[in-house]
Amino acid sequence: MKLTKEEEKMLSGEHGKAVQQSMEILCALGKIYNADKLIPVKSVQVAGVSYDNIGEAGLDYLKQLSKDGRVKVLTTLNPAGMDLKDWKKMGIMEGFARKQLAIIYAFRKMGITSSPTCTPYFAGNLPSFGEHTAWSESSAICYANSALGARTNREGGPSALASALTGRTPNYGLHLDENRKPEITVSLKTKLDGTEEFGALGMVLGKRIGNRIPFIEGVRKATKEELKSLCASIATYGGTALFHIEGITPEKVKAPKKSIKIRRSEIEEALDGMNDKCNPDFVYLGCPHLSIDEVKKIARLLEGKKIKTEFWLGLSRRVKEKSDRLGYTKRIEDAGAIFACDTCPVVAPIKGRFRCMATDSAKACYYCRARHKFKMRVGSMGQCIDAAVSGKWK
Ligand code: F3S
Repeated sequence: MKLTKEEEKMLSGEHGKAVQQSMEILCALGKIYNADKLIPVKSVQVAGVSYDNIGEAGLDYLKQLSKDGRVKVLTTLNPAGMDLKDWKKMGIMEGFARKQLAIIYAFRKMGITSSPTCTPYFAGNLPSFGEHTAWSESSAICYANSALGARTNREGGPSALASALTGRTPNYGLHLDENRKPEITVSLKTKLDGTEEFGALGMVLGKRIGNRIPFIEGVRKATKEELKSLCASIATYGGTALFHIEGITPEKVKAPKKSIKIRRSEIEEALDGMNDKCNPDFVYLGCPHLSIDEVKKIARLLEGKKIKTEFWLGLSRRVKEKSDRLGYTKRIEDAGAIFACDTCPVVAPIKGRFRCMATDSAKACYYCRARHKFKMRVGSMGQCIDAAVSGKWK
């Protein structure tokens, strides 16, 4: 891989230890993937933030990098293991909180000041079409590539952080035009409605096409929230980091000849497969983190009601502040629900705390079953809210 004079200096340690280590990671990646050069990135999303995920070794690594590492570009963080301000209301133990705050302190020292979220595009990190970025967090990667037409590979936490500290990423994979072409046409033979149905489509696609790039025909309309749900599940169940939807996503591409059909029965089977027989004692909405329009909808659905189960809303602090200003927060909290900013149910230390969780997210279903051993209910936001109010799944 050809380096500029400046990059050679970074690699030789002239810009400090953190930059040198970061360049070593990026050069190793470039060599593995046969990149010709490093390219500048405009923004970075760093995963590996929860103490539940990265543990003591991760904390030590971040402390060491933060001695002289400072980010060079707009950098945002993936969810932490707790709400950074109101962690007590989530039932988080003090020992965990201390470690989590030490992780955040190390990131702050490196210059990352935004609050953690997996939908950075709703919180000030919104790449434009064609922009090169280095993002980790599979749902956000897929959203950046597909819904926004920006360009990122599926970075891991350390490689994304290396890009933040150097402002560079190796030029390979989805940064190149030739690797962004669709490989299979998917003809959707049913109308989809709601985040849960788009999540089910992602599950079906993930299982049928693996990590190939699809060109999807037959989607009449999709909101940005439905696209984020599709991004989260297609990446979870298959590994795809980019899809194109005819008439909806921004990249102009041609439909491949090889094609498959997806019918209503497959969407319903996927939804059935995500539903265990149980009545929820925990409701979670916000995987990926909520948009302000979703918060508005939840406020409307909860108006004048009282909930019986534990109920968390996952979102960025920035969207929460908007919700405060618009009066949604009070209506939601009056019903008994909790705002869980900065965090997510998968990386929070809640294993064994609940028996049955309800959500509209196919991704949350996959990970909360696997990691926390919860039984799951997946349906529309309305169904989840009805379950929180009645304590029963209908
Ligand atoms: Fe976000 Fe956690 Fe879901 S990181 S996409 S809320 S699993």
